[in-house]
Amino acid sequence: MSRVSLDQAIAILKNDGVVAVPTETVYGLAGRIFSEVALKSIFKTKQRPFFDPLIVHVEGKPQAQSLVQEWSGLAETLTDHFWPGPLTLILPKNQDVSDVITSGLPNVALRCPNHPMALRILRDLGEPFAAPSANLFGRTSPTVAQHVLEEFKNKVPVVDGGASLIGIESTVLLIDGNHLSILRPGAVTKAQLTEVLERTGHPIKWREPAQKKMAPGQMQHHYMPAKPLFAIHGTLPKDLLVRLNQELNNLPDKIDEVVLIKPKKIKTMAEIQLPTDPVQAARVLYSELRKAALTKADALYFQVQAHHLDPSWEAVYERLSKACSAHLKS
Ligand code: TXA
Ligand code: MG
Repeated sequence: MSRVSLDQAIAILKNDGVVAVPTETVYGLAGRIFSEVALKSIFKTKQRPFFDPLIVHVEGKPQAQSLVQEWSGLAETLTDHFWPGPLTLILPKNQDVSDVITSGLPNVALRCPNHPMALRILRDLGEPFAAPSANLFGRTSPTVAQHVLEEFKNKVPVVDGGASLIGIESTVLLIDGNHLSILRPGAVTKAQLTEVLERTGHPIKWREPAQKKMAPGQMQHHYMPAKPLFAIHGTLPKDLLVRLNQELNNLPDKIDEVVLIKPKKIKTMAEIQLPTDPVQAARVLYSELRKAALTKADALYFQVQAHHLDPSWEAVYERLSKACSAHLKS
């Protein structure tokens, strides 16, 4: 299996199959939300544990409204401003949403992707699809069709929609009355959300995500490339190889269900370098990680610089941090 047309993708979905589709953030592994077979196949293909819930992708507001208990003025305003786009809303689900999608949680994650191909599939399918990023659990998300083909060894069909413009996953926003929590930072920032809600007269309060359970995707390790990545804080140590090998020996085999990749010994390394502009950095982050992992290097490293800690870098830095096997402080 390889690249498929939009019509083929729609036929696959109608037949309870799964297919990778492009979105503006990253490629998703799509299956119809009303097909139990497709939903289970998403988890199986990704080797994803059932405790990690899926995002439901909708064509627009009416589909989203049909899946929740209540559609608040806040949801109305946010979707008016940010849909289609990289903002996922978490709202109380109704009974039409399967527990397989939400991992048994009372809330459902909803997003309208801003990509003509994803939107065309949703329109022609006439119902929403669930789609986590089209990568193996815990690994780097795909931003071009080739990444998907490599990740699943050509076993998953993919619609080629070119490179994802944003390059990192959507902002995940939990709405609880007028309390908001960002469960995952993304291209839509807290500042943008605050600005829109203030301007439209919505009194809101920001809240830190209460417990891990409310944010099941908030694992320490995620987005991991096929070679271990290390973040270096401070100046580059002269004995970097020695230090990294020490770190390597201290690593556990598994964290949060994600198997850490460990070579026997690190002999060679490749440096990950990103553009200084966070929007550009987000766009190339995952392809840079994948490219470096394909070189002969045994491990990858990334030097943390002052600008990476700027709020504008929050989403990219969060991905980088979680993609790391360990942080080295000199
Ligand atoms: O940009 C994106 O959001 C991409 C594209 C394909 O749309 N999708 C994506 O899906 O990143 P995934 O499954 O890789 O990440 C979904 C995140 C996870 O961290 C998951 O735990 C969280 O959303 N999530 C989903 N449903 C949730 C819920 N009901 N409550 C809390 N978090 C939820
Ligand atoms: Mg993912």
